Amino acid sequence: MRIGILTGGGDCAGLNQAIRAAVLRSLDFGNECLGILEGWRGLIEGKSQPLGLKEVEGIVERSGTILGTSRVNPYKEEKGVERVKENMKKWSLGALIAMGGEDTLGVAEKLFAEGVKIVGVPKTMDNDLSATDYTFGFDSSATRAMEAASALIDTGSSHRRVMILEVMGRHAGWVALFTGIASGADWILIPERKPEIKKMVNHIKDVHRRKNYALLVASEGVTLPALKVGEEEKDKFGHMILKKRKVGETLSKLIEKETGLETRVSVIGHMQRGGVPSLFDRILATRCGAKAAELIQEGKFGQMVALRGNEIVEVSLKEAVAKLKLVDEAWWSLAKVFFK
Ligand code: F6P
Repeated sequence: MRIGILTGGGDCAGLNQAIRAAVLRSLDFGNECLGILEGWRGLIEGKSQPLGLKEVEGIVERSGTILGTSRVNPYKEEKGVERVKENMKKWSLGALIAMGGEDTLGVAEKLFAEGVKIVGVPKTMDNDLSATDYTFGFDSSATRAMEAASALIDTGSSHRRVMILEVMGRHAGWVALFTGIASGADWILIPERKPEIKKMVNHIKDVHRRKNYALLVASEGVTLPALKVGEEEKDKFGHMILKKRKVGETLSKLIEKETGLETRVSVIGHMQRGGVPSLFDRILATRCGAKAAELIQEGKFGQMVALRGNEIVEVSLKEAVAKLKLVDEAWWSLAKVFFK
């Protein structure tokens, strides 16, 4: 069988490792793979590349995706779905492996309902897919942000400043939460919780009095009084594009005004998505990619691979995209233990 592999949505660590594993495991079954370029765009516009042993050699050490990615949605493009099906036929694809987050997998689920033989692989640095315990990409991102936070503590404590680290996270605050807990942040702001401004300001003043610096970690998706909600541009999946929101800067002005303390902000942004993939992400992605090739061999379509406990299992794409995994009360309560 010939299997098409595509990566859609924001890139993250682990994609190359998952591609490599899917290709190598497919070879075990006598199947061959074709790389679809730039996510769903490649299937619509007919862009592909060979994807065999030679192409995946050496990519285990790299983040990003050798196939390229995009946020193109076939259901929003003129004759998008029709062209997807035509190109699958033209390339003699017996099945597809779609690697992505809620948007890419949402498209996969719809295509499956229309008869396309498809298996999903979950990836996202946001870790916000509810059907899997962890998504690859998250560990590398949060580790990179944690290292940035440690660097900010060094300089912040020298200058007696309040330091703010803005991290990615549109709807879910997992990256901010884990980064904040792991780096000993004094306050964390996540999109799931309304900021308690007064409490935060008083706490920052206390902390700064005690140790001469304070560190805050904030998700880019946080709502602050000075930010107008709903005015952001939207992408093809209807999500806000947050790059112009400047959460960190807004927060910094607020803290300076309310505390009188010198404050600096750093936005780690896309640096969280590149760099050396962590051991955890490499292994998880490798297991996911191999499992996807196995599901195809077993004819189990309409499924997504998932980590449950320490097992790689399959769940239906329908279940996988049903709801986002947001920071729950138990995790938030744990985080608050350290706001002292
Ligand atoms: O993939 C999700 C995400 O990492 C969000 O946390 C962030 O808002 C968005 O991607 C940024 O996307 P882009 O690469 O299009 O700027």
